[in-house]
Formats: sequence, structure tokens, C-alpha cells
Amino acid sequence: MTQPLLQVSDLHKAYGAIQAVGGVSFEVYPGEIFGVIGPNGSGKTTLFNSMLGQITPDSGRIMLNGRDVSGLGPLALNRLGVGRTFQTLQVFGKMSVRDNLIVAAQEHQGNMWSRMFAPTDSGLGAKADALIDQFHIRHVADKRAGELSYGQQKLVDIAMAFMSEPDLVLLDEPCAGVNPSLVGGISQLLKELNQTRKGSFVVIEHNMDFVMDLCHRIMVMVEGKVMAIGTPAEIRANKQVLDAYLGN
Ligand SMILES: Nc1ncnc2c1ncn2[C@@H]1O[C@H](COP(=O)(O)OP(=O)(O)O)[C@@H](O)[C@H]1O
Ligand SMILES: [Mg+2]
Repeated sequence: MTQPLLQVSDLHKAYGAIQAVGGVSFEVYPGEIFGVIGPNGSGKTTLFNSMLGQITPDSGRIMLNGRDVSGLGPLALNRLGVGRTFQTLQVFGKMSVRDNLIVAAQEHQGNMWSRMFAPTDSGLGAKADALIDQFHIRHVADKRAGELSYGQQKLVDIAMAFMSEPDLVLLDEPCAGVNPSLVGGISQLLKELNQTRKGSFVVIEHNMDFVMDLCHRIMVMVEGKVMAIGTPAEIRANKQVLDAYLGN
């Protein structure tokens, strides 16, 4: 049997009396697109931030490629192949789209000053250009990122996560604030990236059509716990999930 790329075991995180994550376990396999859904306050973001090393869970274990990475910080995890996109945009408005991509990779390489100086290429330009073509943003590559529409900036934000060639990308609400007409395009793009780059994704998203169409498996969280994990068809047919979340 294939070794999971990501294995989260019995993760707990409390904020005072609130058990934000109360014993969550799941695996993500190589090449898998794994969705995380659940009502507001169900612990999705807390789970995400734990997997990214942004917060320290109270207990539980996180394994990446068979290696225990519990307690590692964001930069160490990034170097081990974990990329992310942010719910709020991280692009630098005054830099060109292409330079934003190059700088994102320089940060991955640990150059914390990279945003203060002009980007130096060192082979990253070719990587940026490949992504610019794959994301169909060639026509805006030399524009300042701040001049782009919100949806286009969102694409740049997603592209930035791929500059470090991650094995696992965590996407925090990639459709939030995006014009509904662009949602299908983002889904298509993520499917292509999944195919061509063989990466695994974990996606938090409230847009149910998007999640059901994109994800191979979906985990439903309610009140910090896992209510169900299954294929989109299984999740749609799960009575407990319908009553607690998908119904109405
Ligand atoms: N930094 C924090 N301090 C205190 N409570 C928090 C903090 N972060 C999250 N919580 C609480 O933990 C629970 C889960 O929150 P969150 O992980 O943001 O859920 P979701 O992303 O599913 O909406 C909520 O009750 C929330 O109010
Ligand atoms: Mg959240």
C-alpha cells in the first residue's frame, strides 16, 4: 500500500475552554486533492495552521513523507515541500507579476531580504515563465500586480505557492472573493497542476460545487471533530452530514 504523503494523527488544539480541534486524524495520499469543509468555527483554519507550523498543537502527530514534522515551523516545512496560499492576498502590488513569482521562490530559499532588493534570477525566471504560461497570465506578466483584478491577483497568489515545487499545497479558500465566473477556471487550473506537477492539495473552501467537482476525497469537520471522510458521492449521500451541514 502507498505511504501517505501527509498523516495527521489525533491532533488537538484548545483555546481556553474552546476545543478548536479535538482529535482529528486523516491521511492525504500522493497526487490526491483532499477537501476540508465544515461550518464556521469547526476548526478548519486551526487545523490548517497546525499543518503549516504556524501554531503549535496541544497534542497529536503530523507526518510528512513518513517523517515526523510535528513542531516544525513554517520555513522548515516549506523546505520539506509544503506550500500554501493565503486567504488574503500576499502579492506585492508594486512589483511585476513575474517578479512576485521570483521573489516567492527566493523566500523559499531562505533569502529574507529578497523583497527589499531587485529580484536576482538564478534560474528562477524560467520557472516563473512556465507558471505564467500554465496560469494563462502571460498578458499581465510585466504589469504591476496591484493593477490586476482581484481574481487575477488570486491566480498570482496561487502561482507563487508553486514556485518552490511543493509536494503538498494547502489552499485556504482559493475562491473567496473571486468572481463566480472565474471559479470554474480556478478548478480547471488546479486539476491541470495536479496532473502535470503530481502534487497533492488540501483545500479549504466553502463553495460546495467547487469542492465536489475538484476533490478526490473530502473531510467534513464539525465542532473540531471529523464527522466523515469520503468521496464527493459518499459525502453527498451521508445522512449525518446532510443534517449537520449540507442540508437546507
Ligand atoms: N486564536 C484564537 N484564539 C481564540 N479562539 C480561537 C482562535 N482561533 C480559533 N479560535 C476558535 O476556535 C474555533 C475554531 O476556529 P477556526 O479554526 O477558525 O474554525 P473554521 O476555520 O472552521 O471557521 C472557533 O470557536 C474559534 O472561535
Ligand atoms: Mg476559517
